[in-house]
Amino acid sequence: MTINYDIWANLYDTVYEDVVDDIPYYIDQIKKPDYEVLELGCGTGRVSIPIAEITSNLTALDLSTQMVTILKEKSMQRGLLLDCVIGDMRSFALDSKFDLVIIPFRGFQSLLTVSDQEQCLTAIHKHLKHDGKVIVDMFFPSLEMFDQDSRVFYDVKKIYDEASGRSTLVKHKSSFDTHTQVIQTTLVVEISRAGTVTETRYADFPLRYTHPREAEYLFLNNGFMTKNIINNFTNSVEYQTSEMVFELGKIT
Ligand SMILES: C[S@@+](CC[C@H](N)C(=O)[O-])C[C@H]1O[C@@H](n2cnc3c(N)ncnc32)[C@H](O)[C@@H]1O
Repeated sequence: MTINYDIWANLYDTVYEDVVDDIPYYIDQIKKPDYEVLELGCGTGRVSIPIAEITSNLTALDLSTQMVTILKEKSMQRGLLLDCVIGDMRSFALDSKFDLVIIPFRGFQSLLTVSDQEQCLTAIHKHLKHDGKVIVDMFFPSLEMFDQDSRVFYDVKKIYDEASGRSTLVKHKSSFDTHTQVIQTTLVVEISRAGTVTETRYADFPLRYTHPREAEYLFLNNGFMTKNIINNFTNSVEYQTSEMVFELGKIT
């Protein structure tokens, strides 16, 4: 199954402009200026742009033409060199092998079946140098989230942009299918100025959650050893909920 991310490419930067905690972590992963880096599910370049500022060897791949168009515009405005590719992380075929392959901010969870996840890992394996590293950031729902009422919109965050006077309120409702492990989320984004709502937008998207132990087996069965698990981009604490980052090496 393929999800159409084009429809919310224009909304992406507004909703996620405040997500910045992971960027120093990714920058820190670029160990040499000539490091060959591949980002899968690059979106509009939230992570790609800061990486392209320190290396010109970045390939950024996404299925959504609209997302990639926005990334190209942003990188041109900044005079940055990077290779933008429209492609599927399950089946890409590029000419290079990479030192580092990253899938930031839950991109891997757009793959809704184990078969899709395995295809993606096989494609990564073919494109990774023997001593290369893979970084997969996944979100694990908390018990409170499982308990939420699937009919109710819960506030996620409110972002205030002082320069434009714009407030963005993001709400979500989610339903869980515990058999397929797919969370179906509807986001509502309310943009207001001077206390008046000027625009309301909706975005629906599914994500597949994977238990951390299940993720480790999935990686192992597809040729990758989990070397480290980072929790919320701060410290190495195993198996907490929320954002978890798997650092993988290739089993040769
Ligand atoms: C949550 S966004 C992450 C964007 C960006 N990496 C970031 O950190 O903000 C997930 C991205 O994965 C892309 N995506 C989903 N399925 C994909 C697939 N099968 N192949 C390539 N990209 C995909 C979507 O178009 C979307 O841009």
